[in-house]
Amino acid sequence: MDKAEELKWLEEEMRADSNLPLSEANLVFGEGNPDTSVLFIGEAPGYHEDQQGRPFVGQAGKLLDKLIASVGWKREDVYITNIVKRRPPNNRDPFPEEIAAYAPYLKRQINIIDPKVIATLGRFSMNYFLPEAKISKDRGKAFILKDKIIFPLYHPAAALRSTSVSNELATDFAKIPIVVRDYKKITSSAKKEIGGQNPQKEEESEQTILLN
Ligand code: URA
Repeated sequence: MDKAEELKWLEEEMRADSNLPLSEANLVFGEGNPDTSVLFIGEAPGYHEDQQGRPFVGQAGKLLDKLIASVGWKREDVYITNIVKRRPPNNRDPFPEEIAAYAPYLKRQINIIDPKVIATLGRFSMNYFLPEAKISKDRGKAFILKDKIIFPLYHPAAALRSTSVSNELATDFAKIPIVVRDYKKITSSAKKEIGGQNPQKEEESEQTILLN
């Protein structure tokens, strides 16, 4: 079975899972190239995403499309999803138990796609992987988690509300192709450092690499 088929099965399994919360909303599983090096993960679908069953298709999505184009890629080149896959009522923040309920499916989705870089959009997605991270301090930094690089970004919706956030998001976004290109260098230099100090900690450690 190829990755696209595996994802289709996973989507159908989610659709049939009556234990998942927010069941009155439509499932927005995610879309894109399953062979991508970069997986973008947002928070939860909004109104337009719920209506269309596709992630990031409203105003924030239009900005995301522009940012993807700004680094020379197309939306179809990458994969886009959310930590919570149904819209919370009135776009409220997702509850911790909703994030936890969707987490096993998100994990399997990530395992199938197996990207090098996970670019998180907003603090909920960032804190899913990096519970201690603070978005204003840690955005645009590469964190190594097992064999993946977690790269926190501001949420595009926040960039629509603030010019300074918008500029910072554009600056951080421009680094993504460099993080992908240097994936091996970044992850192997981190391993060396961690292994040198305390080899048994390698698996559980998370490490930050600052990019210029
Ligand atoms: N905001 C998100 O976090 N995800 C979407 O899919 C749309 C808006």
